[in-house]
Amino acid sequence: MLPEPLQTELKEKIASCEHPRELVIDVLTAIQEHHGHLSDEAVQDAAALFGLTPLEIDELATFYPFLYRQPVGRYVIHVCDSVICWMENGKGLIEHLQKRLGIAMGETTPDGLFTLLPVCCIGYCDRAPAILVNRKVHGPLNPALLDELIDRLQRQARDGEAAS
Ligand code: FES
Repeated sequence: MLPEPLQTELKEKIASCEHPRELVIDVLTAIQEHHGHLSDEAVQDAAALFGLTPLEIDELATFYPFLYRQPVGRYVIHVCDSVICWMENGKGLIEHLQKRLGIAMGETTPDGLFTLLPVCCIGYCDRAPAILVNRKVHGPLNPALLDELIDRLQRQARDGEAAS
């Protein structure tokens, strides 16, 4: 269930838009930011806001790569698997990352830190092979730079926990 202030804010936003359906992704993103992912209940909440069916919302939510229908880790890593990255050893990078994290694509590490997802060209071909971590681009990468990045994120998570 959405908290009242968020529900009111989203309703007002939708009411002020001439073509409310244009806002579906924005609203789903706002709901996801609140819940961490889009549960079935969140999909139903969004459907009620737009007067659409949960299936219509689900079709959009499962099409868009930055909306998550299942819980994800603290760092969501989208690895580009399109042609330019592939030509720049993107495949080797994906294999290295999977081995380093001990998970396959679509999975989350047992400590809840990393989720690995494939994504089509993210528009940073000049930085290939490139990945996104929580939608921030990193590239061009090689296995050593990737290890440094993962080390840094693990440290950041540890320091954050120690500080809280
Ligand atoms: S092909 Fe990977 S960023 Fe374009």
